[in-house]
Amino acid sequence: MKHTSQEIIAHKRDGLALSRSELEQFVDGVVSGDFRDYQASALLMAIVLKGMTAEETSWLTEAMMRSGRIVELPEIRRPKVDKHSTGGVGDKVSLILAPLAAACGLCVPMMSGRGLGHTGGTLDKLEAIPGFRTLLSDAEYRSQLQSIHQAMIGQSDDMVPADRKLYALRDVTATVESIPLICASILSKKLAEGIDALVLDVKFGHGAFMPDEAAGRKLADSLVAISARMGKPTTALLTRMDEPLGRMIGNSLEVIEAIKCLRGEGPADLMEVTYALGAEMLVLGGLHTTQAEAMVALKAAIANGRALEGFRALVEAQGGDASVVDDFGRLPQSERTMDFALDNNEKMSVSGLDARSFGEAACLLGAGRVSTDSVIDPAVGLELLKKVGDPVEPGEAIVRIHYQDTETLHVAETRLRKAITLSEDCPAEKPLIVDRIHHA
Ligand code: URA
Repeated sequence: MKHTSQEIIAHKRDGLALSRSELEQFVDGVVSGDFRDYQASALLMAIVLKGMTAEETSWLTEAMMRSGRIVELPEIRRPKVDKHSTGGVGDKVSLILAPLAAACGLCVPMMSGRGLGHTGGTLDKLEAIPGFRTLLSDAEYRSQLQSIHQAMIGQSDDMVPADRKLYALRDVTATVESIPLICASILSKKLAEGIDALVLDVKFGHGAFMPDEAAGRKLADSLVAISARMGKPTTALLTRMDEPLGRMIGNSLEVIEAIKCLRGEGPADLMEVTYALGAEMLVLGGLHTTQAEAMVALKAAIANGRALEGFRALVEAQGGDASVVDDFGRLPQSERTMDFALDNNEKMSVSGLDARSFGEAACLLGAGRVSTDSVIDPAVGLELLKKVGDPVEPGEAIVRIHYQDTETLHVAETRLRKAITLSEDCPAEKPLIVDRIHHA
């Protein structure tokens, strides 16, 4: 039965569950323009306020996924598994994981996004590599998946147009923070990729979109349930995002850190998350029966250099300058650096590095977008010389700021001064990976 747009909005406003046909009408109408922006915004707000059942969320996800081209990759013989992170600061796991999982026998058809708010985006990081193309033709994409079993690209315009439209509306109508809407947005894109299984890194904490563990768990539960309902085996890891992941924030700097990880020189926190997500990918793809066994394979692929060679092949295949792997000087570099210290008179410990403020400071330096038309500077960013728990001598530098001009340096310094806390005692260590969520 066909409803008017007003009727669909009124149903949700009154707290009713929408039918499959109402949700399809909404999504089709958003893409065609029949459901006007102001009507879509009203319905989005009603969804934020009244919520959605699991059934409604899966119907919305499916309708959005079907709003454009759905990729199918029947010619690929390897298990096709992707990883998606809900977004954090310093999160360059995808750059390490795609070549690493491919070196262990998976096919990784990874479609990623750009930075959102204070969080970085995989496509922006990859584009720091001179020449790297994040848009491939369908034929190039398929041929690359056949030859090197991995590709890292952005979604083409004909895929999931409903999300593009809805996301832009949500961004400006304060309707991003809704678990059903986030679920439908993420999963409609991931399930249109032609994958067999999906691993999710659901981040919570001050540097993530989910502020605390309870909210992160709710999102993870919902993502896994909806994805399983739609026939895609999915596992989520619930991970803490209070301090930045690894030591580098900023596009060139994160490429450098990813390459160091692939060389076996990665920081412990970043490798812990990378290995844990990689192990879930290999198990879901059916290549190993236990995470422990998969972990051995992942560590071997780093130790024997196959994962690093995979990254070189990926960069070459997508038109980038692969010599960056051996020579970081080929990546864009900032004009200047400055070592930032606090004015502690005694030896102290780092008790907090607020990830959100670090992300915002990096954006202010030019590493991310502060408005939709901002142009990203790949060279700038922040390098953490200390992590939480590290001792700090009086006046010792905590962060190296990579910057281009003194005006942005001062703005970033002000933000950093509030982002770093020191204490006399070493803070208790909190687990980085809090839980694993999988519905059989
Ligand atoms: N990332 C997405 O792709 N969609 C959301 O709604 C939130 C984060």
